[in-house]
Amino acid sequence: MTLFGKTLVEPAKAVASLVGAFVISWQMTLIALVAGPFAAVLIRTFGKIIRRSTKRALENWADMLAVLEETLTGIRIVKAYTMEAAERKRFHRVNRQLYKQQRRMARTDAATSPSIEALGLTVGLLAAGGAGYLVLNHKIDMDIEDLITWMVMLAAIFDPVRKLSKVATRFQRGDAAAERIFEIRDRQKEKRTPGAPMLPRLSGSIELAGVEYTYPNANSPALCGIDLTIQAGQTVAIVGPNGCGKTTLVSLLPRLLEPSGGKILFDGRDVATHSLRSLRRQIALVSQDTVIFNATIGENISYGLRRPKPQQILDAAKKAYVDEFVRELPDGYDTMVGQRGATLSGGQRQRIAIARAILRDPAVLIFDEALSQIDPDSEQRISQAMGEFITGRTAVMIAHRFQTILAADAIVVMNEGQIVALGPHKQLLETCELYTQLYNTQFGNAK
Ligand SMILES: Nc1ncnc2c1ncn2[C@@H]1O[C@H](COP(=O)(O)OP(=O)(O)OP(=O)(O)O)[C@@H](O)[C@H]1O
Ligand SMILES: [Mg+2]
Repeated sequence: MTLFGKTLVEPAKAVASLVGAFVISWQMTLIALVAGPFAAVLIRTFGKIIRRSTKRALENWADMLAVLEETLTGIRIVKAYTMEAAERKRFHRVNRQLYKQQRRMARTDAATSPSIEALGLTVGLLAAGGAGYLVLNHKIDMDIEDLITWMVMLAAIFDPVRKLSKVATRFQRGDAAAERIFEIRDRQKEKRTPGAPMLPRLSGSIELAGVEYTYPNANSPALCGIDLTIQAGQTVAIVGPNGCGKTTLVSLLPRLLEPSGGKILFDGRDVATHSLRSLRRQIALVSQDTVIFNATIGENISYGLRRPKPQQILDAAKKAYVDEFVRELPDGYDTMVGQRGATLSGGQRQRIAIARAILRDPAVLIFDEALSQIDPDSEQRISQAMGEFITGRTAVMIAHRFQTILAADAIVVMNEGQIVALGPHKQLLETCELYTQLYNTQFGNAK
């Protein structure tokens, strides 16, 4: 019978037997029912233990998988730092924890029904003995047949309770699992606003007004009091020391993060109240850590497009200087990129990401320049590709290289979550101390 069936049929059986037992002798039945609360407490306690250990076991599973993924994706670092033994130990530890938790759960599960059974047997024996004594000594007026029927009914009450206790533990397990699912579901809510008006392609300006952002669980805001206007078609470079909030700021534009305060306007329209798709479709993001999927190079370039034309892919690839190295590969654009782009150099990966952005023909381009060293040849190609690509588009470039800054119409200097200066290169050199400092340390050597 199904679990659900059991939960319906078994109580009905118990109630019918209970009524029968009451009809025969209500006094004796009442006495026998003293066992009821004990059974209830027992079932509840076991249920709670099962629920807790199920939840912990699921968490241990997640830990184990996380360690596994981390180690495998970072295998080159693990090897380079000869950390194989330490990683093995770490994995062993989480694995052992999982094993212990699973064993604990199985033990509680196995203990539930014998305990209920033992309780039932004890109560049954006591009830039978007591009732037998009362009837045989004529303390209660009842014949032997009735006594036996009564005892059978008492047993019949107990059987469903035993079965239901199993159901209860199963429910507790399911509940613990559901709780974890809902925890995750609730966490990653991205506000969908069906019927929200479409955002037309940017033509005027992007305006950030009093924008603030605080990461969940962070004590202090990562961004505060950001006021910035970016004219359509202009290129704005953002510079600032590590951790000053540059990546956070550009993540707000495609609403990968929602501002905790203030507004972002596209041509005077609040992006928060417009369709998310229509916003994201006009923004291309080339991120700091280039994401390459385990697919062919062609598929990586056309990612996000439904029906890309091969000619378009080729054009984009040429503009991003991808074509020159893909042509040398035996399978060309059908070459599978290894897991996490392992078979491509950092510069090549970034060029693929740029080709991906070019193919989308975005109104707004966000380029979070990589911090990692890229070979000078690749770097030259990347700035050439970007230079051609951004003409006529709105571009927000987080700059770590001097060439990128030179291409900008305005430079935004950030520090500790705030904009501290804004202007062209020459003016900033004269007026902004932090900019001069950055220029000397970060950009100076790239001249
Ligand atoms: N997911 C996160 N949760 C909590 N704090 C974060 C998170 N991401 C970033 N931060 C914090 O927010 C601040 C700004 O980070 P952000 O990544 O925007 O810096 P950045 O200017 O891009 O630095 P970099 O030049 O190193 O790329 C930092 O103090 C950082 O520690
Ligand atoms: Mg960053």
